Amino acid sequence: MAQLEQSAAPGSEWWRTAVIYQIYPRSFADASGDGIGDLPGITSRLDSLKELGVDAIWLSPFMTSPQRDAGYDVADYRDVDPLFGTLADFDEMLAQAHARGIRVIVDLVPNHSSDQHSWFQEALKAGSGSKERARYVFRDGRGENGELPPNNWESVFGGGMWERVTEADGTPGQWYLHIFDATQPDFDWTNEEVKEEFRSILRFWLDRGVDGFRVDVAHGMVKEAGLPDYAPVADADSMGGGEENVPYWGQDGVHDIYRDWHNVLAEYDGDRALCGEAWLPTLAQTALWVRPDEMHQTFNFPYLMTPWDAEKLRDVIRQSLDAFGGVGAPSTWVLSNHDVVRHASRLALTAENPQGEGIGPKSEGKPDPVVGLARGRAATTLMLALPGSAYLYQGEELGLPEAMDIPDEFRQDPTWFRTNGERYGRDGCRVPIPWQADAPAFGFNDTGASWLPQPAEWAQFARDVEEQDAASTLNLYKQLIRLRSEHGFGNGTLVWEDQGQDAVAFRRGDIHVVANLGAQPLELGEGVEFVVQSQPFDGTALPADTTAWFRKA
Ligand code: GLC
Repeated sequence: MAQLEQSAAPGSEWWRTAVIYQIYPRSFADASGDGIGDLPGITSRLDSLKELGVDAIWLSPFMTSPQRDAGYDVADYRDVDPLFGTLADFDEMLAQAHARGIRVIVDLVPNHSSDQHSWFQEALKAGSGSKERARYVFRDGRGENGELPPNNWESVFGGGMWERVTEADGTPGQWYLHIFDATQPDFDWTNEEVKEEFRSILRFWLDRGVDGFRVDVAHGMVKEAGLPDYAPVADADSMGGGEENVPYWGQDGVHDIYRDWHNVLAEYDGDRALCGEAWLPTLAQTALWVRPDEMHQTFNFPYLMTPWDAEKLRDVIRQSLDAFGGVGAPSTWVLSNHDVVRHASRLALTAENPQGEGIGPKSEGKPDPVVGLARGRAATTLMLALPGSAYLYQGEELGLPEAMDIPDEFRQDPTWFRTNGERYGRDGCRVPIPWQADAPAFGFNDTGASWLPQPAEWAQFARDVEEQDAASTLNLYKQLIRLRSEHGFGNGTLVWEDQGQDAVAFRRGDIHVVANLGAQPLELGEGVEFVVQSQPFDGTALPADTTAWFRKA
């Protein structure tokens, strides 16, 4: 911990301004060579993250899991899955990250466990009305013989939200609730035992020294009493981002849980933080998650979901700063993660693509890769000038596009299976990242194995290629993160400027930031002295799909 600074005063905690890099362990670096990334792989690549300049890493789940939802189905919350290594590998990774001044946030999945969790196995055996079943959401079915599910809710991954069990005597029995896959039964968060168990799990990882948690499906843990029927509006965002009053999203009861957890974290030194994954219809609702006694951060999904449109982007930035500022929390910013189409592709899609749908060989509206990369770089150059904390997703620093041609037989996302191939799902943003152009699996490991196939054209995005190219996306990210820190952009205020309808323009101190989202070049005028450009250009006319930071004489 030697190099990690404690905050000097309230309000200067590290997470208020941090650049946090999401590692998706399966796809980051694979030391064992089995085709799935692991913790020793992460440790071996920490220097690359130090060079990138990030303040913290967030690891998607690496706990014991049958991997039916890539680790978001946890069977033992206090151990590491052998695929990823051991607890000793975790401790080593944590120590090595801390030695480099990098904080570590781990993913906590409290909405549901794996069906292989010992509690769920006990619940299956124990039968109706038992204390074991009371830890999950078991209900009798409707219909004469209980043959109909208890209500009409639909799983985020497609199909119904209920699965019927076979009782110990072989007869069809009760149903259990699963917002996601049938192998991911939801806990009952009104149950005291569940609450106590998770306090203890938090302490298990806090005692090991983690700096915080990313809380999975933070908006889903409490369901409306009585579990009333509900039919989503057509084409709704299945995670709840576009709908009001969904009986399983954003219920008031979740806030009591976060207040409780806030207090658990406060028992520890070093500004430990909670960051919630909460997809909610408005920023005002999202801000309720980060009131002073609740979580510390929440992902800004309204920002992530904003299309490449200057007016909408200005609005969402303004609303974010107002909403989060109104409760004394930093705004966060995020453009990519393991659940959405990578932003170097998404920002140039020409057809609707709801969250979670993904892009595959038969999708319509595929992006032009050149436009996508230009917009991706421009969007990040804008994002890293904003006050607050920013999240990056592994591979975006290389400008990786979505992998759009994964053959069907390699697909692994449960969404693909539960919709019979109607929705491709999220595999396209989860492909192992390229480190070396001329190595097996592009340096992901030294055997060439890869759990999802890597597109051949990714050689051009390999880190070793980009390191040699001053104009690469990698070098742009390094420059942006360094400048952001030097200028203290994580803190302080933003002053809006007017550069016309097609621009997002503001000033941070003496640095002007302008993003041109229009089709025509934007003349910036006399006396411009550039600090950074999202892509190289001559003169003072900002090209389309480009962002620049500059001073004016
Ligand atoms: C979150 C995760 C996603 C996972 C789901 C179920 O949304 O980010 O990857 O499938 O929760 O745990």
